[in-house]
Amino acid sequence: QVPGLIDRFGRTARDLRISITEKCSLRCTYCMPEAGLPSIARDDLLTPEEIGRLVGIGVRDLGVHDVRFTGGEPLMRADLAEIIRRSSAVGGGASISMTTNAIGLDHRIHELVEAGLTRINISLDTVDRDHFARLTRRDRLPSVFAGIQAAKEAGMTPLKINAVLMRDTLAGAADLLEWSLANGVRLRFIEQMPLDADEAWARDNMVDAAELLDLLGARFTLTQPHREDPSAPAEEWLVNGGPATVGIIASVTRSFCADCDRTRITAEGTVRSCLFGDDETDLRALLRGGADDATIADWWRAAMWGKQAGHGMDRDDFVRPQRSMGAIGG
Ligand code: GTP
Ligand code: 5AD
Ligand code: SF4
Repeated sequence: QVPGLIDRFGRTARDLRISITEKCSLRCTYCMPEAGLPSIARDDLLTPEEIGRLVGIGVRDLGVHDVRFTGGEPLMRADLAEIIRRSSAVGGGASISMTTNAIGLDHRIHELVEAGLTRINISLDTVDRDHFARLTRRDRLPSVFAGIQAAKEAGMTPLKINAVLMRDTLAGAADLLEWSLANGVRLRFIEQMPLDADEAWARDNMVDAAELLDLLGARFTLTQPHREDPSAPAEEWLVNGGPATVGIIASVTRSFCADCDRTRITAEGTVRSCLFGDDETDLRALLRGGADDATIADWWRAAMWGKQAGHGMDRDDFVRPQRSMGAIGG
């Protein structure tokens, strides 16, 4: 048994999320500013070799079970297949997944699967083309559909769809669920968190899980949630008796921080123990300074030991983290 990434509150992180770029092909209002994020100098990004090395340390020395690539948008990196290949080679059977907007995925899915990708989550908030164009500031819905189709044909199942809850999403939520049922994908709605680059989030007007359940309940029969894995962020509901489900990730109103099992690495190679904690530990400097695996593992452990109890959104002294979602990777 490897001494894992444990923290002061008794949690163990086994789920590693690695952001590999700040770039994105969309500009979702809840995530990115209109102009995109300030770009990271090429030399400051972790290379595929460095990412592979960290994955190896995570899996071998620190008990990581699941590896997920995020962004920005992972597909923006031309060397994504190389990143996956190196990670998979040292991954010891850990799942290697990614969260993507699926734009251009149809052209790359085979290369990625061949490299060792095991699962994909796709972000899609609406199936209405005009709404999609407004929300993402890009008219690319057909490309997303093509990506989803290609991922399904490549056997990437279960395919999960993430939709961030906003007023407009709520209006189209039943249609999105209808479409998901028809297309055999697993839809999950996510309460919006104060991680939008534009800082427009306000607790008073955010759409919560309760409001969504009311609305969906008018068109579908939803039955009692059952939660198999307490660290899984989504609560699943059976739709019209099942087997299809709809999930709700109520990060704000029903925080799952107490069961959090995540450790994150940013595109520049720092460990971030919590979405909402700005303390970061620079592993890139260690990698490039010639540190051995054991030293890197020690710093990583120390970073996670200091993880905060939770996001603290309900506290009066809550302050938003400096990085927005696009710079952390969701
Ligand atoms: P699965 O392994 O398929 O369950 O993936 P996942 O749900 O862990 O990953 P995904 O990238 O699809 O994340 C879904 C959403 O959950 C993200 O978009 C975030 O909004 C939210 N989320 C992910 N990680 C965290 C976290 O550590 N804390 C909180 N509060 N929310 C998170
Ligand atoms: N709140 C909740 N989820 C968000 N995402 C991006 N920004 C936010 C936010 N402010 C989600 C995206 C994607 C994942 C990486 O993060 O929809 O599925
Ligand atoms: Fe874990 Fe932090 Fe996310 Fe809460 S906000 S679930 S503590 S990473």
